[in-house]
Amino acid sequence: MPSRLVVLASGSGSNLQAVLDHGVGHGNGSIDASVIGVVSNRIDAYALVRADEADIDTELVTLLDGEDRRDYDTRLAGAVASFEPDWVVLAGWMRLLTTNFLDHFPDRVINLHPALPRQLPGIRAIERAWSEALAGERSESGVMVHLVPDEGVDDGPVLASRAVPIDVSGTLEAFAATVHDAEHELLVETLTKLCASDSS
Ligand code: GAR
Repeated sequence: MPSRLVVLASGSGSNLQAVLDHGVGHGNGSIDASVIGVVSNRIDAYALVRADEADIDTELVTLLDGEDRRDYDTRLAGAVASFEPDWVVLAGWMRLLTTNFLDHFPDRVINLHPALPRQLPGIRAIERAWSEALAGERSESGVMVHLVPDEGVDDGPVLASRAVPIDVSGTLEAFAATVHDAEHELLVETLTKLCASDSS
């Protein structure tokens, strides 16, 4: 049986698209899995449009006025659990998750981050890497996929990572595009391995 993936996305969803394009039933299908649900916290997330176009169920879980983040995470966990996922994939999910969410899916939540392990956690990692490179403080950054066991930010057991060199004679936009290409590939490769071992 193909693994069941639920993707959580807050933004454009280019990584969701990479997973969709390589899942079961697609020409490039290397991942023995189907995305069975896409959940977003933002009504304007283009990831929701991509899911609709691919005929995948979506769920919008927005933060209510004054809602505590742990209460939000309990509601979010309910929405995600209703899909009965094998893996929960954070692909541009821009909210920190508490144990109220994570404890529902032990060892089954993976996150993608546009930096190397233990470097540049948090938002705008690509822009921060670029600024450091311009200041002569770094010559490469990268991408990683890791498990999310606890409330650490962009941290946890690393499943895969890849360095991306920074060419400061180019532009931030060109560097960002290279990082995004690398993360699309790394996410697909990692899910291909994880889902293959699910079925073995
Ligand atoms: C990706 O670069 C992803 O690595 C990053 O958000 C972007 C989402 O792009 N995630 C983080 O920064 C997590 N801290 P997408 O919506 O086009 O997939």
